[in-house]
Amino acid sequence: MTFPYTRMRRMRKNDFSRRLMREHHLTANDLIYPMFILEGSNVREEIPSMPNISRVSIDLLLKEAQELVELGVPTIAIFPVIEENKKSLLAEEAYNPEGLVQRAVRALKAAFPELGVLTDVALDPYTTHGQDGIIDDTGYVLNDITVDTLVKQAVSHAQAGADVVAPSDMMDGRIGTIRGELESEGFIDTLIMAYAAKYASAYYGPFRDAIGSSGNLGKGNKSTYQIDPANSNEAIREVILDIEEGADMVMVKPGMPYLDIVRRVKTELEVPTFAYQVSGEYAMHMAAFEKGWLDKNTVMMESLLAFKRAGADGILTYFAKDVALLLKKQK
Ligand code: PBG
Repeated sequence: MTFPYTRMRRMRKNDFSRRLMREHHLTANDLIYPMFILEGSNVREEIPSMPNISRVSIDLLLKEAQELVELGVPTIAIFPVIEENKKSLLAEEAYNPEGLVQRAVRALKAAFPELGVLTDVALDPYTTHGQDGIIDDTGYVLNDITVDTLVKQAVSHAQAGADVVAPSDMMDGRIGTIRGELESEGFIDTLIMAYAAKYASAYYGPFRDAIGSSGNLGKGNKSTYQIDPANSNEAIREVILDIEEGADMVMVKPGMPYLDIVRRVKTELEVPTFAYQVSGEYAMHMAAFEKGWLDKNTVMMESLLAFKRAGADGILTYFAKDVALLLKKQK
């Protein structure tokens, strides 16, 4: 009988002892803010399924980047909305040196050299069918041809000045091939964050609305390349491969429903581990906040602290700006 010698509530009684025993902390350093960009100047478009998040033109992107720098957010991730007439079966626009992403990266790095800029390497914004790769007559995504295009895309991002390229396509062998080409082109310090354990998830719906690929994708799904939500060991194998192929950081995606995978990756592989609280997770939270069913600030913070507890070193989250603002106010 340990009671009353052990009373768990003793340590919880006062603020000072609660603070002393706190194991995990969330700071602005843990955040990566995903942003959607489009052509034009002074353009801001709301995304109905992602309240408070909008698609912005490069000039407005720079204004927002300024705020993020001031808030101490270390990195932003950019995702393009590509005009329909620039989409094609072979996604050539993905590696256009004057493309939207490439111009945005150059503008960001010129204005804020200290801000980390992460780019998504995948073809879905650029294909007429919304798949992440190049397809055959049956609609099957062809691995090796897709990888060739991803390599060109990644190198063009590095040339524009991207600090981190993040392949989110789930093709086999793309990390090694991209790493090899970056090395031979002299981009020896470009970081690769591999979307290593990316699941075939229905939580990406609002993102596909945001970049305008959902209509083209239609009833199509990505199960021939993204991981089956039923599996856990497969995710670990994917992560091992991506590390061996030269990834500097790995990511698990989606986030909250997959914190078991985050924990396994961190414990078993001991590498820089990130998680993506995806668009659907954001949308669910926002819907409940708007209805007044959950309290925004406390739930938002709790949801992100859970990632830290699970072992994530950082989180890509659409709440990054709100969280950084809140943390600044709390200081
Ligand atoms: C594209 C990509 C997706 C996301 C990030 N990169 C969507 C997909 O795989 O269909 C999802 C991000 C989110 O839902 O917030 N390859």
